[in-house]
Amino acid sequence: MGKANVAVFISGSGSNLNSLIKFSLKKNSKFRISLIVSNNSKALGLKYAKLFNIKKKIINYKSKRLMEKGLINKLQKERIDIICLAGFMKIISKNFIKKFDGMILNIHPSLLPKYKGLNTHFRAISNKDRYSGCTVHLVNHKLDGGKIISQKKVKILKKDTPKSLASRILKQEHVLYSKTLNKILFNL
Ligand code: GRF
Repeated sequence: MGKANVAVFISGSGSNLNSLIKFSLKKNSKFRISLIVSNNSKALGLKYAKLFNIKKKIINYKSKRLMEKGLINKLQKERIDIICLAGFMKIISKNFIKKFDGMILNIHPSLLPKYKGLNTHFRAISNKDRYSGCTVHLVNHKLDGGKIISQKKVKILKKDTPKSLASRILKQEHVLYSKTLNKILFNL
């Protein structure tokens, strides 16, 4: 199989998108980033579309059904093999997930199944956990509930705040996501 076509969905800064793009340019990469999708036309991560000359699609959740139809067409037109959610803050419909079942990955900033949802770092610190980390998982209809593919543990330090822990975990997300995606594609 040649390189897989990956679509990355973002809503914000796109630091995970940036790390996926950087990895995709390496010799041993099994994927290329063919499309960047954002629900936010002002997402800072869209700068990477310009910088690396990657196609982008802004989706408007106001007309969900119409949006989804256009999005599915675009994904099929670009022959997308895998969808990577990366800081994507919208819920995807059951219909969409069914259509791309087993092809949607997400990176979540906790050691799932602990701390699904938001404010993961605050919750881990408040619970005096010794470790937190990040998880790459398949996306199914349950929020942050799909099959866990890989995880990276990060020690919580006594002096950690949610902010300091978040930045240390984010760095590990950048490594884990590309490595996991490449491994999945290598074993296909
Ligand atoms: C971060 O909180 C990260 O932990 C999670 O999504 C948020 C934004 O990530 N995966 P990014 O910088 O937009 O990739």
